[in-house]
Amino acid sequence: MMKIFAVAGSVFVLALVSSAERLPQGPPPPMQGVRQNVAGMDENHPVLMSYRKAIVEMKKLPATNPLSWQFQANMHGALNMDGANDAWRWCMHGNWYFLPWHRGYIYYFEKIVRKMSGDDGFRLPYWAWETEGQNALPAPFRQKQYNGMVNVFFDGTRVKAANSGMPLRPDDQSGSFATDWQNVRGVSQFTTSFAALSYGGLRVDKTMIPKRPVSMDHGAMESQAHDLIHDAVGDDTGNMGDPDTAARDPIFWLHHANVDRLWNRWRDIAGHINPDRVADKDWYDQEFPFYDENGKQVVVSVSKILELAE
Ligand code: C2O
Repeated sequence: MMKIFAVAGSVFVLALVSSAERLPQGPPPPMQGVRQNVAGMDENHPVLMSYRKAIVEMKKLPATNPLSWQFQANMHGALNMDGANDAWRWCMHGNWYFLPWHRGYIYYFEKIVRKMSGDDGFRLPYWAWETEGQNALPAPFRQKQYNGMVNVFFDGTRVKAANSGMPLRPDDQSGSFATDWQNVRGVSQFTTSFAALSYGGLRVDKTMIPKRPVSMDHGAMESQAHDLIHDAVGDDTGNMGDPDTAARDPIFWLHHANVDRLWNRWRDIAGHINPDRVADKDWYDQEFPFYDENGKQVVVSVSKILELAE
């Protein structure tokens, strides 16, 4: 297997770009909780109670309602039989919008969970699969029952190993996906002409909605860490194994909360920076449609997503 190592870039460039990235505008965002590690949360943890409650409520709504579980999942990907909808099948894979698109997607999903659970401080927990000992599916997601009723965190399409709490085997390791993450975080460029050397993925042209950016080879974070978890949980037949169904599995959102967190950990490394404000303006200007907690469509640019999730 190819190992990717890269030398950290210039610290001076980092300083310049990160000051340009702070957009001084608008009132401070409302108080939000922080995302917490799901490890160590028991099934009755308040964060999980809120998430469970929201899923129950969302599943009562029809797939045509943007606040429904199915609609939210379909925004990522949908099966042919789910029918057509311009707001569906937007997941960005195989291009440099992979990270910001998923950041926006979980940002608005959190707002919907807050509304549907009545818990204003809700933040998604994250599944830190790269941490030693945390490469098993979190326990509250494995039980079929909760409190004598169906546990909405359970998804029977996962591989047996996942639902039985076995360590999910990373490529050629035993303890965690730590080595995969170590390799990926060493990829110093956000985008290059080679997918494997691009932490954030390959550059593709900006589009105007409703046209979607094209998908090419998966970038380093996507293919060498993120995809491994999808396959380890869903393999060939489970929801998590296919972008058309992945977001139906409640663990999807914890997986992506972690991918989102690791993007920041990558940027903590000197020289590891997001695309350039000027040269890569297209990245910042690309727009995507999401839905807010009132079921209203919002169209936001990558710049805006970065600002909102700051
Ligand atoms: Cu758009 Cu982890 O998938």
